[in-house]
Amino acid sequence: MLLDVRDLRVEFHTRDGVVNAVNGVSYSVDAGETLAVLGESGSGKSVTAQAVMGILDTPPGRVAGGEILFRDRDLLTLDREERRRIRGEKMAMIFQDALSALNPVLSVGYQLGEMFRVHRGMSRKDAKAKAVELMDRVRIPAARERVNDFPHQFSGGMRQRIMIAMALALEPELIIADEPTTALDVTVQAQVMDLLAELQREYRMGLILITHDLGVVADVADKIAVMYAGRIVENAPVRDCPFYTSPSPRDRPKSRMPPSS
Ligand SMILES: Nc1ncnc2c1ncn2[C@@H]1O[C@H](COP(=O)(O)OP(=O)(O)O)[C@@H](O)[C@H]1O
Ligand SMILES: [Mg+2]
Repeated sequence: MLLDVRDLRVEFHTRDGVVNAVNGVSYSVDAGETLAVLGESGSGKSVTAQAVMGILDTPPGRVAGGEILFRDRDLLTLDREERRRIRGEKMAMIFQDALSALNPVLSVGYQLGEMFRVHRGMSRKDAKAKAVELMDRVRIPAARERVNDFPHQFSGGMRQRIMIAMALALEPELIIADEPTTALDVTVQAQVMDLLAELQREYRMGLILITHDLGVVADVADKIAVMYAGRIVENAPVRDCPFYTSPSPRDRPKSRMPPSS
């Protein structure tokens, strides 16, 4: 198994006491698989993802129990350096809001290239070429001309493609996408989601997709976990879910339902 989260507990220590945000969550995702995580706002979806990525706000947050097995090694017991390396090289996260995730004063080419300079020791020139290649890969029109543009010069959909490109740069084994299309127009949502699903299949990555879009779930997920109040209340292959109607989720015509909340 690529990622196996077992009985994870996360608490926040606040002035008003301890908040048990994640109360024994277990889920897993294998290479080439998509796990959709559903659940109402505040149910612990993002906090679980942050714990897996090692970007929990600590303090006030704290992992209070459980295991996060990445290829059979518990990330919670690794030393800082090892954990940082796995997080940097093998996992990537895509957030809802690309504008706040990208640096506003650096060109997108510089930010994409930084991945290759820092992690691969490439020269500026080679890194820039890789940045253009990635921008092409996520189908940003005229990538070569736009590589020196800044985040605010791109539309929301194009910025989210840049986020996907950043996530893909080091060819991670696992991507966690936390409501990656929620901030986008409905038509653009479908395009960005289709791109992400396509790249996930091509690179055979594990994908954890946090979403409230049941259409997306039916189209791309292999299995789902439904969270409620810090717990998983439903864990099933997507073919067993009530809204699922076709033999292969990938052959279904694209349909999108409005958000449930
Ligand atoms: N920085 C924080 N300080 C205190 N409590 C927090 C913090 N971040 C999250 N929480 C708690 O964790 C719960 C789950 O949050 P979250 O995982 O972001 O929900 P969602 O399912 O909407 O992604 C929240 O309802 C809140 O009580
Ligand atoms: Mg969230």
